[in-house]
Formats: sequence, structure tokens, C-alpha cells
Amino acid sequence: MLLGVNIDHVATLRNARGGVEPDPVMAADICEQNGATSITTHLREDRRHIKDEDVYTLIKTIKTKLNLEMAMAEDIQQIALDIKPYSICLVPEKRQEITTEGGLDVAGQLDKVTEFIKPLLDAGIIVSLFIDPDSEQVEASAKTGAQFIEMHTGAYSEAFGKENEEKEFLKLKNAAALAQKLGLKVNAGHGLNYENVNRMHEIPGLYELNIGHSIISRAVFTGLPEAVRKMSDLIK
Ligand code: PXP
Repeated sequence: MLLGVNIDHVATLRNARGGVEPDPVMAADICEQNGATSITTHLREDRRHIKDEDVYTLIKTIKTKLNLEMAMAEDIQQIALDIKPYSICLVPEKRQEITTEGGLDVAGQLDKVTEFIKPLLDAGIIVSLFIDPDSEQVEASAKTGAQFIEMHTGAYSEAFGKENEEKEFLKLKNAAALAQKLGLKVNAGHGLNYENVNRMHEIPGLYELNIGHSIISRAVFTGLPEAVRKMSDLIK
């Protein structure tokens, strides 16, 4: 499995003081030097962490792959078409949420999603859809033309170590198997940490994990190189 590191939390810290440090671009470089195989960043509609200048700089400096998370917003689609990241991951977005709370409802807006991603696919950008591990959502995703899904691991992460862990884990395992049967590649992320990440090895064929909060949190105590190396070792 590969490790994509989400650097949004570095930008959140920077923005707390409105200055320039810590620099998310420098963080991306350190992540890459210590085992990250891609860098994920979410350009939110309210620009609460990553800003336009960040993505325009990142696209020039990143040596691995830039995975741009985005909502179905036309201005952000335009930025994606302008910078042409390696991949985009389509996520739902609510202004008041602390972080992305649930998966994208692809089944409920199949035509809208298909139309929205078409220009991105035509531009050669790989498209991933961030969905809950649910068969209806997986089947709908397979009809859109997207090459990847990213399974939302939030419910599993919350259930980890509790009585419903197995139930939530099986949802991921079954959704991944169905997606692969339908020709989709499968990533996963949200809420994964140094303990619950190990069970991801039990899901055959998982391609990449996108992890942010736990790595940046650990980095406060150990430094970013050590925090990324440790996670990279766990998922290799
Ligand atoms: N994948 C997606 C689509 C996300 O929205 C997020 C959170 O920004 C992550 C992965 C990473 O989640 P976490 O920060 O909990 O590791």
C-alpha cells in the first residue's frame, strides 16, 4: 500500500497566526523525503486552510503526485484544470463541518457527478470519488467514469476497539471487493492512525491510504520526518 499525506493541518496552523509558518509546501517536501508517495490537499470553498497560492506553488514543487481534494464547485474545477494535478478526489463539503463528515452521495446525483468530472478526465486528470463503503455508492461510482474510489474510513476508525469494529471493517472489505470487481481502484482514508491502520492490510488490493491528522499530530512531538517514516513503515 502507498501513503498519501494530507498536509491541510499544517496550513491550519499557519493560518492561526495569519503568517507564513509552518509552510505547507515545506511540509510536503519533508513528507516526500520520508516515504509519502503522494501529497493530498483540500482546497475548500472557504479556503480555511490551503489557499490558491499554496496549490499553485505545490504543483511546481511536488516530486511525487499531487492529489487535490475538491467539492463540486466550478471555480475550484477551473483551478484543477489550470494546474492539472495528478489526481483529484471529489468530496462533499459543508461550510460548518470541522472536517469532511461523510462520503459523497454519488448515487443520488449520478448525472451531476458524471458531468462534473468529465472535463477533468478529458484533461488527463485521474478522478477519485470519496464515498462511504456502501454498495449503492460503489455501483454508482463505477458508472461515472472515475478510475478510483476513496473509501471513507471514519466510521471504522471511530468503531476501532469497540464492539462495532468488525461490522464497520467488513463494510470496507466488502465495498473494496465490489469496487475492484467493477473495475475501480480503491484508496481509503479519514481518521486512520498508527493503531487502526494495521487492519487495512486485511483488505486485498487497497492502493493508497490518505492520512493527515494523526501524522501531523504525532509530528508535534516527534518531528514530521519521524512521524511520516513510522506511518510509511506500518503500511508498506
Ligand atoms: N481523505 C479525505 C477525502 C479527506 O477529506 C481527509 C480529511 O481531510 C482525509 C483523507 C484525511 O483524514 P485525516 O486527517 O483524518 O487523516
